[in-house]
Amino acid sequence: MDKHIVLLPGDGIGKEITDSAKQILGAVASEFGHSFTIQQQEIGGAAIDQYGSPLPDITVQACQKADAILLGAVGGEKWDALPADMRPEKGLLGIRKELGLFANLRPIKGFPSLLHASPLKEHIIDGSDILIIRELTGGLYFGRPSERQDNGEAVVDTLYYRRSEMERIIDKAFQSARLRHNHLTSVDKANVLESSRMWRDIVNEKSEEYPEVAVEHELVDAAAMKLITQPSQFDVMVTENMFGDILSDEASVLTGSLGMLPSASVRSDGVGLYEPVHGSAPDIAGQGIANPLGTILSVALMLRHSFQMEEEAAAVERAVRECLEQGFHTADLNITNGQLVSTGQMTEAVLDNLTVKAVSD
Ligand code: NAD
Ligand code: IPM
Ligand code: MN
Repeated sequence: MDKHIVLLPGDGIGKEITDSAKQILGAVASEFGHSFTIQQQEIGGAAIDQYGSPLPDITVQACQKADAILLGAVGGEKWDALPADMRPEKGLLGIRKELGLFANLRPIKGFPSLLHASPLKEHIIDGSDILIIRELTGGLYFGRPSERQDNGEAVVDTLYYRRSEMERIIDKAFQSARLRHNHLTSVDKANVLESSRMWRDIVNEKSEEYPEVAVEHELVDAAAMKLITQPSQFDVMVTENMFGDILSDEASVLTGSLGMLPSASVRSDGVGLYEPVHGSAPDIAGQGIANPLGTILSVALMLRHSFQMEEEAAAVERAVRECLEQGFHTADLNITNGQLVSTGQMTEAVLDNLTVKAVSD
């Protein structure tokens, strides 16, 4: 199958980890007889430097025509002092909004060989398998006004949601729960926020359409605690934009490292942007030591969700699992045995497992 992918490396470790992803796509193409055309465009700080904008028109147009998009990460100190609309992060928010990618799927499933890499006790994280569904194009991130007022003596950010925006993400969450273990935890702050009370009402209304799905409501502060004390109690979690951002970084601790987590940002017709959950990691950028697995696992999500290539996606995930079982780990994983490897060596290890397996199948 011929697929057109737009690659947005972005900033910091973005280039290093998307280089790994490109190699994985190349191997999948040759092992499984597909053709992936990869077109690189700029976003974030790299786009500011080249085009004077974090999201140039040429990038938006290319993404609109693509079958899928793969993004590294954006942001860095160099651009931190720019005005709000010129920051690298605005490019990422802009492409999510432009493409209507309202559902951010963040699966958190530890690999058995990394159980001991987490600071949490093994018996607590063993068996946990969570899908965080984060609303991605509304809430505090996009509400207007968002500005300093009163000569800098006051400030306002606006949390705004339309009912329809809540309904579509909550529907997506119920549908996802039906495909998993029929258990949905809705996370809000309904004891304080009006937006959360409306969210909770909609979850309750929708639950009548999905009687097979057991629904629980959790306040976000308690949910943050239970996520790391009783993680195996969760199946699908759904929440608004900012709560989802924070909870997913927290949940990465279950897997041993933020560098392990992939994500898919999708809309109803399946068009998707795939990216690791982590950022541009300026503290380790350029050293060749970043963990590429969150990005490689994002490639697997792309194969599965945008291209319906389940076998190929499973092969990538299996290759990742095998190289972890063989003891390969990057520096972010707190492991003392096995082999400490660079970004490039980890990528090679995944490629070896991918090609050996595909040949012997
Ligand atoms: P970060 O996720 O970049 O890094 C947090 C910590 O995790 C750092 O110590 C980093 O070295 C480590 N880390 C992250 N990914 C890693 C990987 N693949 N391998 C090894 N270690 C990894 O978050 P931050 O430091 O708070 O933010 C840095 C910049 O990234 C900021 O400009 C921020 O806006 C941006 N950011 C971008 C995205 C994105 O593009 N999706 C996401 C989060 C943050
Ligand atoms: C993420 C990031 C972004 C977000 C930032 C960089 C805008 O933290 O993708 O999780 O908050 O959505
Ligand atoms: Mn984040």
